[in-house]
Parts: sequence; structure tokens; C-alpha cells
Amino acid sequence: METISIIDAPNFVNQKVKIGVWLTDKRSSGKIAFLQLRDGTAFFQGVVLKNAVDESTFDVAKHLRQESSFWITGEIHEDTRSKFGYEIQVASIEVIGESEEYPITPKDHGIDFLLDHRHLWLRSSRPHAILTIRNEVIRATYEFFNREGFTKIDAPILTGNAPEGTTDLFHTEYFDHDAYLSQSGQLYEEAGAMAFDKVFSFGPTFRAEKSKTRRHLIEFWMIEPEMAFMHQEDSLAVQEQYVAFLVQNVIDHCASSLATLDRDPELLRKYTKTPYPRISYDQAIDMLQKAGMDVKWGDDFGSPEETYLADQFEQPVFILNYPKAIKPFYMKPHPTREDIVICADLLAPEGYGEIIGGSERATDYNYLLEQIKLAGLDPKDYEWYLDLRRYGSVPHSGFGLGLERFLTWVTGEDHVRETIPFPRLLNRIYP
Ligand code: 4AD
Ligand code: MG
Repeated sequence: METISIIDAPNFVNQKVKIGVWLTDKRSSGKIAFLQLRDGTAFFQGVVLKNAVDESTFDVAKHLRQESSFWITGEIHEDTRSKFGYEIQVASIEVIGESEEYPITPKDHGIDFLLDHRHLWLRSSRPHAILTIRNEVIRATYEFFNREGFTKIDAPILTGNAPEGTTDLFHTEYFDHDAYLSQSGQLYEEAGAMAFDKVFSFGPTFRAEKSKTRRHLIEFWMIEPEMAFMHQEDSLAVQEQYVAFLVQNVIDHCASSLATLDRDPELLRKYTKTPYPRISYDQAIDMLQKAGMDVKWGDDFGSPEETYLADQFEQPVFILNYPKAIKPFYMKPHPTREDIVICADLLAPEGYGEIIGGSERATDYNYLLEQIKLAGLDPKDYEWYLDLRRYGSVPHSGFGLGLERFLTWVTGEDHVRETIPFPRLLNRIYP
């Protein structure tokens, strides 16, 4: 008899197998017990028939508590009524670990209760489905960038620079120096691009944002590609191909997770069509004003503005060339207009907001030095970064995709906190 995982059950129909499982729920009557089982790979049902097992086995089945763990043996059968399509007709049960009264019951719980129990909540089917999709997106990310000839260059987490502004930095001591937790690996990726042409990083980034919104995490994971000899248009092409590739892989490889989440793959399929539409910031302001929204040129967009703009399109939409005053110091100035920079944000459909921020990078040493000073940063901390403009400066572009923002959209979740195993939120660092 083979020991298998639930996910492999389709290959063992009408065969006797052994599986290590936990109990998620059960129902029983005098003659039959239905055990809802999970083993980490999938969820399915075990059927215990009183007249097919010995008395003690049926008794154990009836008294198992939620989340107790056990070895189960039995025969795999097709079960066309269940989503999974297979079940096990139980022959024997060998308890491994008893469970105390489990706090997360099949009834509804409030979000704070669930977040307090995130270490256990991970076992439930929705978090399991979301994090399965997260894993697929990470896998597909490596596939995409390896296929396209990118080298992964890891950026440090402890750093002395602040690419995304000084207001939301996590400060720490680094022996005798000041240090921050990285807001973005970008500046290091730019160094990497000058050494390896096309590079990317994937790692945790930190923003001490005091805003409590559905879109903000304190700790989130970002994928940051950076490409030498590339202008904005080439970078936008990479971005849309990358996003479409991720969505396609989720559709192809995560069908059962999407079904668990009631997320329609046919809706997602629309997002695999490229190119994505592009509008300028100026056009966006125009559209918003015509719709009667209270914005003026120079404002940054909040959630209502981003949602309105995204709603005007079927696919994700690029907003190009924002005002210089509301963007970071490193962006390339526009060749003919002083007030805008060469950059783009990609807005997801359905009100999920910005999933990518990116730009072409400033290449001129003197311009960049000036911008660093204007941003109130100490040029001494950026000497190494300025070196990239002193020794063979070339046009280059890059972007950052927020993994959890992307996942919130693709999974159709309400809140970004659902898409990371252990969310760090304003006022939450437990568990
Ligand atoms: O737009 P941002 O701040 O851009 C950068 O950090 C650039 N240095 C990236 C680059 O060009 N290499 O952040 C990029 C993306 C956003 O579009 C969003 O998806 C995500 O990171 N993001 C957050 N996700 C969750 N919580 C937060 N607090 C986030 N802040 C940004
Ligand atoms: Mg941004």
C-alpha cells in the first residue's frame, strides 16, 4: 500500500492507500461518518461506513476532534458531487496527535479574531487557496525573468538610502551608523543592470505608512526588474508581458484555488490580452475633471481617482508621465517639459489600484546630484549611486510590482492582508 498525498488521489482510483491528514469538519449518523480531511496539498472527504470497519474504528471516527491528526487507510473513489472529484472510503484510522478545542470553527469569525489566529487560519481553505496562487505567481516570476535573460541580483534589506522619500522609513541602528529597512531595492538593481544588463530582485520591502487602507502593508514583497539600454516604451512592453504571463499562469495552474475563491477565470482571461492601454497623466486629469471629480493638475491620485480611471478600461491601464513634484528624485526628466517625468503606474481593473510603479531613470550626473539635494537627502549616502552616472551612464528603466497588490486583484480579495502569510499592519505584529 502506497503512502500518498490527497492531491495525487486521482492517480489511485480504486486502490488502497495511506494518507496523513487533519480533520477540518465531520458529520456522522448511526451508520456513516463523513470526515472532511486535509493534508496540506488538498481537501477531500473520507467516508466511514459502520458496517465496513471494525467497531473501534467507527467509534474513533465519531469522536475525532477538529484538527486532530491521523493516518488513514482506505480506497480512493471518484466522487462527482464534490469539487475535488474524489473521496476515500476509510478502512482504518490511527491517531497521531489529538487536538484541543480548536478556536477556528466552521462558523464565521471576525477579521481581528482570524488575524490573531493567523498561524492556524493558514490551514483553512481560503487562505490556502490564496497562498497557493501566491506561490504560483512567484514560480512564474522566476520562469518569466529567466526566460527573458534577467539575472537575479539580491538587494540588501539593511540600507542607508531612502529612494521612496523619508516620511515612511523604518529607522534602526547599524552599529555606529543610522540605517533603514529597505523601501525598495531599486538603486541596487540599477548598479546590477550596469553589470548584468537585465536584472531583477524579489524581496521584502518596508514602509512605515501610517495609512490604514485596504491596499497598504507595512512589510510587502516587491519584484523589481531593471534594464540597461532601455527607454520607457521598452519597459512598458516588458511590464505588460510580465503581468499577462502571471495572470495566464494563474489561470492555467490554479483552477481549483480560483474555484475555492469564486474567482472567474474567464474574467481574468481578459487581462492576458496585450498591449494594455496607455494614457498620460494630463489625459487622466482631464477625464477625472470631466467626470466631476475634485482634482487639479499636480495632485496625486487616491483610491477613488484610480478606480474611476481603471473603470474606463477593460484591461489594466498605464498612466504615463506624472508631475515631477509628486514623484521620487531618480526619475528621468521629460525632454521638453520641466514639470513632468518619464514614468508610469499600472492600474489594475476592478478598483484594485496601482500594482506597478516604474520609470526611466535620470542618467545625467549633475541633474541627479541636484535632485538628491532638493529631496533633502545627503549626497554622501548616494555617492555610490551617482558613480553609476560617472562611469558610462546609459539609458535605463525599471519598475516594481507589488506582489500582494497584484494578488489582491487576481484573487479578487477585499484586502491586501489576505495575500501574505503573516501580514504586518499598522498596530499588528502578532503572530
Ligand atoms: O510605486 P512604488 O513606491 O515604487 C517603488 O518602490 C520603485 N522604487 C519601484 C521600482 O521602480 N523599482 O512601489 C511599487 C509597488 C506599487 O505599485 C505597489 O504595487 C507596491 O509596490 N506597494 C505596496 N504594496 C503593499 N503595501 C504598501 N504599503 C505598498 N507600497 C507600494
Ligand atoms: Mg507608486
